[in-house]
Amino acid sequence: MSSSELEKAKAHFSALIEEQLARVAEMKKNAQWIDYASLKPILIGVCWGDGIGPIIAQETQRVLEHVLAEEVREGRVAFRTIEGLTIENRIKHLKAIPDDVLAELKACHVILKAPTTTPEKGGPYPNIESANVAMRRELDLFANVRPVQVPQEGIDWIFFRENTEGAYILGSKGIQVTEDLAIDFTAVTKQGCERIIEMAFNYAHTNKIPKVTVVTKANVIKTTDGLFLETAERIGKRYPDIKWDAWYIDIMTAKLIDPKRRTQFRVLVMPNLYGDILTDEAAEFQGGVGTAGSANIGKRYAMFEAIHGSAPRMMEEGRGQYADPCSLIRAAAMMLRHIGFIANAEKIEMALDICSRFEKERVITGRADGATSRQFCDYLMETLQDPYLQNRWGSLRKNIQTTRQEA
Ligand code: IPM
Ligand code: MG
Repeated sequence: MSSSELEKAKAHFSALIEEQLARVAEMKKNAQWIDYASLKPILIGVCWGDGIGPIIAQETQRVLEHVLAEEVREGRVAFRTIEGLTIENRIKHLKAIPDDVLAELKACHVILKAPTTTPEKGGPYPNIESANVAMRRELDLFANVRPVQVPQEGIDWIFFRENTEGAYILGSKGIQVTEDLAIDFTAVTKQGCERIIEMAFNYAHTNKIPKVTVVTKANVIKTTDGLFLETAERIGKRYPDIKWDAWYIDIMTAKLIDPKRRTQFRVLVMPNLYGDILTDEAAEFQGGVGTAGSANIGKRYAMFEAIHGSAPRMMEEGRGQYADPCSLIRAAAMMLRHIGFIANAEKIEMALDICSRFEKERVITGRADGATSRQFCDYLMETLQDPYLQNRWGSLRKNIQTTRQEA
């Protein structure tokens, strides 16, 4: 190794440390949470993405415009469409988020984001950073909240995935020191650990859930995961009503498939990469990643999305119109809850439960033997307009619970 290679690597590392310390300084300013009730209108950006993104985004917008019709008329909410986050446009600008698109996103209060293609090493596109990762960082969306429920099996999980640090924050800033040596970096901060762990405990406390599970690999990744775990210990002491336990990610992935053990988990909190992996596994119990929504929450902005990607394989095989819009629609309901439109959110959730979990009159399979995204949403829209929606949902749900008790 030449001395200039070594100097270059040191300078690179030193710049990363400076950058991260600046981020800590920003977090220490402790910005105030935005108050949606004081905004008129609340601006909802619908960001189409690419691949199956525009297909499921347009269907979701149809549902949203229906349930928010009155609020739009009264000027309490307004929609903005953001179309520029396609892979073609990102490649053209060689940027994870082109500047004009970032400005459009920042002009909104909350964002509903459809999937975007993430370039990979050796793939057909230049290896630019993922638009998701960039957006989470740019808008400081530190909490990735992902609920998974399978009422018939007693599964009721909510994952709090740290969303701005860990393996992701410097994921595109590793160094190929020499031809033989490649190094990536992972970084967490005290402030970053505190805010996500606090949010998880606070959620458990507010919802009277007496247990929080902290997932790390602190036995091996001693410094960063160690800090995460230590922070949990400190915060846990402030919540005497909550019993918390710590698990390592490897055994946690195993225990999620243990039917006796898995129903005991309720609120789970973990660093970024473990949360990425665990939530895909978790969503599989509910019917796959196509069924799960995800909230990316920060103090000033919040973004809601499906937990899956843009499904390039479906597009290549010409199956885009059969994409499942449920995850994005679920994300839209989470968005409405977040901005305080609880009744509208509940309507969507009830209709979604009826159509995709209970009655299933039209089923999405991702292929021509199932419904298209549009056909499924027609069914959902009819269900939403049923004046007896709540009763219908209530009795279907009761049946499911009865079945469980008898089993
Ligand atoms: C997710 C996705 C993203 C992630 C990808 C698309 C970068 O898998 O939201 O879980 O890794 O966070
Ligand atoms: Mg993922």
